[in-house]
Amino acid sequence: MRFRTAVEADLDRLLGCVVDESISWAHPDRLLSYLESGNYRFDRIWLAVDEESGEILARAVWWSFPDGAHPLAMDCLYVRPSVGDRVGLAAELLSRAHTAFGHRPEYHIFLTNAWRDTSRQAAAVSWRQEAAGRAGLTEELERLRYEWTADEAVPAPSKRLVFRGDDDDEAFVAAFRRVAVGTLDFATRQALVTMDPVAQAREDVRDYRSMPGRRSWWRLAHTQDGDELVGVALPSANDAGPVVGYLGVVPEHRGRGYVDDLLAEITRSHAQRGVQRIRADTDRGNIPMARAFERAGYRNHAIRLVLSADPTAT
Ligand SMILES: CC(C)(COP(=O)(O)OP(=O)(O)OC[C@H]1O[C@@H](n2cnc3c(N)ncnc32)[C@H](O)[C@@H]1OP(=O)(O)O)[C@@H](O)C(=O)NCCC(=O)NCCS
Repeated sequence: MRFRTAVEADLDRLLGCVVDESISWAHPDRLLSYLESGNYRFDRIWLAVDEESGEILARAVWWSFPDGAHPLAMDCLYVRPSVGDRVGLAAELLSRAHTAFGHRPEYHIFLTNAWRDTSRQAAAVSWRQEAAGRAGLTEELERLRYEWTADEAVPAPSKRLVFRGDDDDEAFVAAFRRVAVGTLDFATRQALVTMDPVAQAREDVRDYRSMPGRRSWWRLAHTQDGDELVGVALPSANDAGPVVGYLGVVPEHRGRGYVDDLLAEITRSHAQRGVQRIRADTDRGNIPMARAFERAGYRNHAIRLVLSADPTAT
């Protein structure tokens, strides 16, 4: 067995790897379009190759921003069904890739809401989760996937808040930092275990800047009567189209339903540009956010399962 990164000459064999297990995977169209856009790169696809036949026995594919210095998330883990120890081979492949990357990117799996009760999907997740866990991705998070479609009414502007843009990224760094205090968002909480709050806010702002959404859409929300910051609202987009991006309320203003005003502003911002569909994710445990999506006519249609490393583990 040889473990190595892919090269261009592997393309035909890469396209021949098929995941037929009812979960998300890097299917041929996705593989080709993301290799073209730079979201996938041959040197961020790892393979376990049979030395005698040259056949690919396992394949792991990581996603990154086209100009990203590091792979951000694993998108697909394939092991040929005929391999006796699928978990062992996958774990070895992931461990080698993580060592080469110098970190353990998350693994994102897209599933239906009923995945735990669907034996095919549950089995597909089970062996992958065991392999990922052996390679250090021990934390499990379920994110609810929402979508708003243009057949819903466009919300009215807030009567309580004033929204304005700001060209200075530092204004957003300061707002992100305040909003992160007491957050129920797992990724932010995990990042704050090891990172200084300003560095964490700056990294988030940088990541949102790397997304295809326009920077000029970002808004800070203040009270009508004064200049008090209430929160942030970042309509954005990813490769699949418009997304909610990020929103948050500073701790002093929580519990007054301002989340509805911020989400409405994001929905309005996209709707005014004629958008037909807006997507969003939130953690299953972020109940105030999930409820706000439901109040605003967003429909939970799927799950994103995120497996990640414990930030305190070596
Ligand atoms: C999620 C968030 C925007 C909700 O804002 P909000 O305007 O306070 O929401 P609501 O007013 O609807 O709050 C509903 C209830 O949840 C409680 N709540 C809101 N945020 C909470 C938090 N972070 N921790 C604990 N409870 C919270 C409120 O106090 C309120 O409780 P009550 O009904 O007993 O009064 C806010 O918590 C936040 O900014 N979190 C950090 C950023 C974040 O998670 N963004 C979403 C990423 S997808």
